[in-house]
Amino acid sequence: MLLAIHLWLVAVGAQAIVDRVAMNVACIGCHPIQAAQWEGSEHATAYTDAPFQAALLREPQAFCRACHAPEQDARLSAITPASSIGVGCVGCHLDPVATPGADGRHLSMRAAVDCDGCHEFGFPDDALRAHPLAMQRTVSEHRSSPFGDQGCASCHLPRDAAGLHDHRIAVTRDPDTLARALAIAAERVGPSRIRVRLAVVGAGHAVPTGDLFRRLEIGAMAIDPHDPQRPARRWLGRRFATRVEPTGIEVIAEVADDRVHADAPRELVLEVPGADGRDVVWWVSHQRVAFPRGDDPAAAVLDGETPIGGGVLVHGGGSHFRARADHARRDRDRDR
Ligand code: HEC
Ligand code: HEC
Ligand code: HEC
Ligand code: HEC
Ligand code: HEC
Repeated sequence: MLLAIHLWLVAVGAQAIVDRVAMNVACIGCHPIQAAQWEGSEHATAYTDAPFQAALLREPQAFCRACHAPEQDARLSAITPASSIGVGCVGCHLDPVATPGADGRHLSMRAAVDCDGCHEFGFPDDALRAHPLAMQRTVSEHRSSPFGDQGCASCHLPRDAAGLHDHRIAVTRDPDTLARALAIAAERVGPSRIRVRLAVVGAGHAVPTGDLFRRLEIGAMAIDPHDPQRPARRWLGRRFATRVEPTGIEVIAEVADDRVHADAPRELVLEVPGADGRDVVWWVSHQRVAFPRGDDPAAAVLDGETPIGGGVLVHGGGSHFRARADHARRDRDRDR
């Protein structure tokens, strides 16, 4: 039966009359477990979800549609059965670009799924630039990370007890997956200062990765119910500015990248308004920025955010601040 169906798919492919959308329906019918998980995934809604539709309105480009709706002619914007499967079963399990060969071999469901072509790409104006710039570079980040020899699927499609791969691939709206990525520690290092350390321990790339506007917010605020204090906030991400190329063409250039890279832990010190003598609440949050507004990171418009970690650092009583101060005093004594 299986062999018959897959041979049928191969035969249909070889005749180059493949209706990939109908095929997707067939995959769903025979693989209900994977289908139910995929239906709740960001891949399934890659074209139809609100963040993408809003971004497409701002930048109505075939370039964007080609990747978020690979089964639809990129010249069309409409939401149709072809675009509403987003990155479907066929998008991952069948070669999306090759035309079927005489032997139909590229239709093999056994071929390892390739994530790379969609998860690393340049700006659409790359050909006009003196130096190409990646809009997303998860694949390069992965290659140079300590997890470079571990495929994307080993983390993103873990096997369940029955040996099946989890097709939900839930990350950006899933606090548990996000929390696995980083080791985070915070301590008081002065009357109104806290230090936050972030190190990648469970992600095979920078955190955050993917979309160019993703960022982490690191924040802290003195707790006083009677006299609300201002929070201190910092953001880690890629930052961009427009630049004029030698050819006179204006392009978007990357001016900074202070995300937490896989092999380089990061440490931040926040000066927290009003923290002297008060407890401090701190947090780390993964933010999906819809679009930045000017140079002020606090003005950016968000699609949403998901908390990753945080806690309360109490004032006084055995705080790390005291311990650090003791170290400092001992060091001074030794120097004398
Ligand atoms: C008529 C039912 C049927 C259809 C249609 C079908 N499959 Fe399968 N498929 C099976 C069965 C049965 C197996 C073997 C048991 C298993 O692994 O679930 C299988 C196995 C697989 C495997 C495991 C690797 C392999 O080749 O053994 C993958 C991946 C797969 N199918 C993907 C797909 C995709 C993608 C589609 C749509 C293009 C599809 N299948 C359409 C029934 C079907
Ligand atoms: C984002 C890419 C992606 C999408 C979309 C996707 N799959 Fe998979 N699928 C994988 C990967 C990766 C594996 C693990 C084995 C491999 O690399 O081929 C896998 C494995 C499978 C298997 C083998 C059994 C298992 O669960 O390990 C089946 C069957 C399957 N997929 C069916 C489907 C069906 C049906 C759909 C659509 C409803 C679908 N897949 C959508 C990436 C994908
Ligand atoms: C045909 C292109 C394509 C392929 C192949 C593909 N992806 Fe994706 N992937 C996308 C797009 C587009 C999105 C963004 C969807 C959205 O949020 O609108 C995405 C989103 C994701 C996300 C973010 C999920 C979240 O929670 O926001 C992860 C993780 C991911 N993909 C992993 C993988 C892995 C692992 C593979 C290979 C097994 C893979 N992808 C194959 C296009 C692809
Ligand atoms: C060692 C496990 C691991 C490996 C290997 C891995 N990832 Fe991830 N990935 C994670 C974790 C954990 C997160 C959540 C933290 C984050 O967002 O970076 C994540 C996040 C993501 C996201 C969401 C982007 C964001 O931050 O908003 C995408 C997309 C993604 N991974 C794609 C990939 C692709 C493609 C590969 C292979 C080239 C890959 N990952 C390899 C663990 C892994
Ligand atoms: C080569 C494939 C590719 C192209 C081209 C592409 N994207 Fe994406 N896009 C992705 C992937 C992969 C992700 C998931 C990364 C992540 O989760 O951080 C994504 C994520 C997004 C998201 C976040 C979706 C969500 O639900 O959080 C938006 C919005 C988006 N892309 C808009 C665009 C726009 C607008 C364009 C055209 C300027 C574009 N994309 C071009 C692959 C692509």
